[in-house]
Formats: sequence, C-alpha cells, structure tokens
Amino acid sequence: MRFFATILFLIPLYAQQPPEPKNLKVLKIPPAELIPTMRSYAAALGIKCDHCHMARDFASDENPKKEIARAMIAMAQDINSKFHDGKVHVTCYTCHRGATKPLTAPPPATAEK
Ligand code: HEC
Ligand code: HEC
Repeated sequence: MRFFATILFLIPLYAQQPPEPKNLKVLKIPPAELIPTMRSYAAALGIKCDHCHMARDFASDENPKKEIARAMIAMAQDINSKFHDGKVHVTCYTCHRGATKPLTAPPPATAEK
C-alpha cells in the first residue's frame, strides 16, 4: 500500500520535470540553469521568449534571432576569456541595458548638470 502511495506521489513530480534540451550548440550549463539563463537574456534585452524562439518549440532554429543570440553568447564568452582573473565581467546586460539595439553613444543630455 505504501509502495503504491509513493509511486502515485512520484509520477506527477516526474511529469513536471522540463524535457531534456535537444538542440544546445553553445551553452555548456547544467540543465537546472537553462531557464534562469534564458530569463536573464529576456531581461537583458527587454524582450519575451518568443523574440528568439518559435512560440511552442524551443528546440527549433527557425527564428533567425536565435542564431544571432548564439553568436552573441560566443562573443561574450570570448570577451570574458580575455580577462585574466577568469571571472565573468561582460554579460548581455553590459551592452544591451534592456534594449535590443545597444547604444554606441550616450543619449543627448536633456539638461545641463
Ligand atoms: C536572446 C534570445 C533568447 C531569448 C530571449 C530566450 N532564448 Fe531560449 N534559447 C536561445 C538560444 C540561442 C538557445 C540555444 C542555445 C545553444 O545552442 O546552446 C536557446 C535554447 C532554449 C531551450 C532549449 C531548447 C532545446 O531543446 O534545445 C529552451 C527550453 C529555451 N531556450 C527556453 C527559453 C525560455 C522559456 C525563454 C523565455 C524565458 C527563452 N528561452 C528566451 C535564445 C533565447
Ligand atoms: C559587446 C556588446 C554586446 C554584448 C556583450 C551582447 N550583445 Fe547582443 N548585440 C550587440 C549589438 C551592438 C547588437 C545590434 C547589432 C545590430 O544592430 O546589427 C546586438 C544585437 C543582439 C540581438 C538581435 C536583436 C534584434 O532583435 O535585432 C540579439 C538577439 C542579441 N544581441 C542577443 C544577445 C545575448 C543573448 C547576449 C548575451 C549572451 C548579447 N547579445 C550580448 C552587442 C552585444
């Protein structure tokens, strides 16, 4: 009896596990960090998941923004590898600051300081 109670308890827990990622080409992170990492991209660029993904299929590469994002991930990894302390100094947010197109110059001052 107790055995069946345990099984019935475990089935829904198992069903809630996110599916194994099928199409990771640049990210080398533990599965548990995938969704937090994705949320950090969305927050850094001020966008929703579907800016880079097809609505229901996260493994699909059909959305061209996803390939741009892969190149950005590789670029950020490359920049960080050039610091000598091995720490992460440059993230998506460092450039993007909540926008899809990073600024190359400060916005015109609205008032003199
Ligand atoms: C800035 C673009 C971007 C945003 C925004 C983004 N993703 Fe992703 N996502 C990617 C890229 C790029 C990959 C593939 C990484 C790789 O190839 O290693 C990926 C992979 C994934 C995967 C793995 C799919 C598989 O089976 O291979 C999941 C799941 C996922 N994203 C979910 C999300 C969710 C949920 C959100 C919103 C919270 C989100 N993503 C927001 C770019 C993005
Ligand atoms: C060194 C600065 C820099 C960093 C770091 C950076 N980006 Fe970018 N990113 C840019 C620039 C500049 C553009 C705009 C390029 C253009 O307009 O053609 C851009 C554009 C993009 C775009 C296309 C947006 C759109 O809708 O047009 C995506 C997606 C993106 N970046 C994702 C990321 C992600 C994810 C990260 C972190 C892994 C990241 N970027 C880190 C500079 C950066």
